Amino acid sequence: MVIKRIGLLTSGGDAPGMNAAIRSVVRYGLHHKLEVIGIYRGYAGLINEDLKSLDHRSVAGIINRGGTILESQRCDEFLTEEGQRKAVEILKRNKIDALIVLGGDGTYRGAIQLWERWHIPCVGIPATIDNDINGTDITIGADTAINTALEAVDKIRDTSTSMDRIFVVEVMGRESGYIASQVALASGAEEVLVPEITYDLDDMCHDIESGYLKGKERWIIIVAEGEAGGREIANEITEISGSETRVVVLGHIQRGGSPTAQDRILATRLGAAAVDLILNNEYGKAVGVKGNQITAVDLHRAVEKKKGIGVNSSYQLMRNLI
Ligand code: F6P
Repeated sequence: MVIKRIGLLTSGGDAPGMNAAIRSVVRYGLHHKLEVIGIYRGYAGLINEDLKSLDHRSVAGIINRGGTILESQRCDEFLTEEGQRKAVEILKRNKIDALIVLGGDGTYRGAIQLWERWHIPCVGIPATIDNDINGTDITIGADTAINTALEAVDKIRDTSTSMDRIFVVEVMGRESGYIASQVALASGAEEVLVPEITYDLDDMCHDIESGYLKGKERWIIIVAEGEAGGREIANEITEISGSETRVVVLGHIQRGGSPTAQDRILATRLGAAAVDLILNNEYGKAVGVKGNQITAVDLHRAVEKKKGIGVNSSYQLMRNLI
């Protein structure tokens, strides 16, 4: 199949580095004589035919910008057969031969539908701060988010040390403890709570009390947002141990900001790799990087089983250093 015109969209939670990937897809695609159509606001924009041809200049000056110039949304209508039918009609009417999607597992599930049910050639690029996609060591945006959170925790440590206080710091990752475990390791935090591993607050409070006896009165506890958020954990600590706590919820600042060099380079490499897959007529796959080598994995495999904290040795190492 000869591909002449490709569509490009960003969907789900935005991630720093998405713009660098957009720039790479557009410029590498043009270099290979492909026309690149930007689809705005993810699958929602596709259903509403919100399209614009992207030229070399339209992606100038964006490599260092957070967010996504194509904008992003989570789209319920695309989950329906009717929504998908509309999307396919629009792709056909606009002569878009193949689609590159940038995002996390929800984005990939949409691409699986388009490819397997409607035979629209699709390729995925992993972009989510959560780093919970299989087939890649790291996703675009995770490094920037970790550095943003780390900068905040370093500042919190200053005041925690000065005033001998317990701080509970909530970081992002409703279903993924990746950011939490990396930030805990890099900041020298005293505790980390992640959604993948059940924790015992009584044990933790016991550690805090025995720490007090040894003269340790300041604690930084990193908590991944989830069922029990930072505030709830802090209240429970106060209730069990009687210790005063302070809570900081870092929230969406972790999703924004200028991408780190690592994210820009990763995004640029993966953008070009996604175009290469299309040129080689390899569809239904997601690009990734393993041991610094570019790889491709079936989209099903990419979303099949979340990487989880189990594959991340930082969590264990961090616990051995407390
Ligand atoms: O998936 C990325 C992410 O930022 C998660 O870390 C977080 O739990 C979630 O999105 C928040 O989603 P929303 O921006 O829709 O509140």
